[in-house]
Amino acid sequence: MKIAVVGTGYVGLVTGTCLAETGNNVICVDINEAKVKKMQDGQVPIYEPGLDLLFHRNIEQGRLHFTTNLAEAIEEAQIIFMALPTPPGGDGAADLSYILGAAKDISKIIKGYKIIVNKSTVPVGTADKVRAVFSENTDIEVDVVSNPEFLREGVAVEDFMKPDRVVLGTTSERVKKLMTELYGPYVRQGNPILFMDERSSELTKYAANSFLATKITFMNEVANLCELVGADVDAVRRGIGSDERIGKRFLFPGIGYGGSCFPKDVQALVMAADENTYDFQILKSVMEVNERQKTILVDKVLKYYKNDIAGKHFALWGLAFKPETDDIREAPALYIIDALVKNGATVTVFDPEGMDNVKNIIGDKVVFADNQYDALKNADALLIATEWSVFRNPDFEKIESILKNKVIFDGRNLYDLQKMIDLGYYYNSIGRKL
Ligand code: UGA
Repeated sequence: MKIAVVGTGYVGLVTGTCLAETGNNVICVDINEAKVKKMQDGQVPIYEPGLDLLFHRNIEQGRLHFTTNLAEAIEEAQIIFMALPTPPGGDGAADLSYILGAAKDISKIIKGYKIIVNKSTVPVGTADKVRAVFSENTDIEVDVVSNPEFLREGVAVEDFMKPDRVVLGTTSERVKKLMTELYGPYVRQGNPILFMDERSSELTKYAANSFLATKITFMNEVANLCELVGADVDAVRRGIGSDERIGKRFLFPGIGYGGSCFPKDVQALVMAADENTYDFQILKSVMEVNERQKTILVDKVLKYYKNDIAGKHFALWGLAFKPETDDIREAPALYIIDALVKNGATVTVFDPEGMDNVKNIIGDKVVFADNQYDALKNADALLIATEWSVFRNPDFEKIESILKNKVIFDGRNLYDLQKMIDLGYYYNSIGRKL
């Protein structure tokens, strides 16, 4: 099939590349000239495991193209995917200006029937708004489809190639047939393609992300309670996760959820509920608890140093909001740095992929180390904010020889408690005994 993808962010680029991988001819369009030039020169603009290989293979085989010219991109496309940002607007509700703007531009240049598929996370009713933009500007028939994306950064390619499900909001039989063909190769294992009305499809995305954020937040609160009652959250997690109704995944406590999706989507769903005079209480609590959780590691540090960390120096391992990404949006590490610095401490950081992004926004606030051990020089204690694999099995003798004191505050529960006791560390993690 001939496909255009408008927007080459995480979702757009992964979508375009993975659609090319199953033999489709894909042209990706973006207004960012520098980025398009980079991609035309064969450079992947984001760090995403596995993407490089597919990206280059499909460019070489002539199935994946990049342009800044919208008209050229959509001319021959049967299906136009829109993967544009929906940042929170001033009032917290999703800002639709990119989507509606692109819809308007497309509506003015199409010459024949097109299927417009919205991949972005958008409020309920957006498909109707997009449809209205088309009918205002053209007589040409279009079908507008909601197709929320559930991929996770860091495993985006795998998630796209083998999705748990594909959700498609459309009532058009013609679209259903084409979409079943398009997505067929990705659901060969029998995972479902779920057709539903557009509004249900749009809400599914917010409900899924908000449910997952709630699940994590619930576990963070259980972890906080574990510390107070002398229980071990790892044991409790296994104990409840073995119940299939609860499930093992997304039960890992930590320093709060971050990233570009959960915080934004939970907030947007609360706003949408408010607008419809529904008080979505549980999600309001989720937001509140998550705010608190983001600096829980600093609370632990302050308690340990009796509220006086002025002049202390800390090493921080991990900046990205989660491993296998360079994405630092809403990363708990940034809140930790901010709180440490506000309390008069200094910080040296190391992250395998996220340092360039942090340099761009708070480069003057922290010192950047070349590797995880260099970060420990002159540090009074080590803090861990992201569970990168390289932090999981460090050389503890080396740590001991560099770090001023054997003190670790671990926001991701990377190490075995007994091992840390045996090694003689003061080891403070989340929801576990000291
Ligand atoms: C999330 C969803 O998982 C995807 O399904 C969705 O498509 C995506 O948002 C989106 O809307 O685009 P992502 O933000 O990439 O994906 O990251 P996750 O792996 O879901 O992690 C989100 C946050 O939850 C991270 O801060 C992570 O550290 C935290 N988390 C996750 C926990 O604290 N505990 C867990 O057990 C799992």
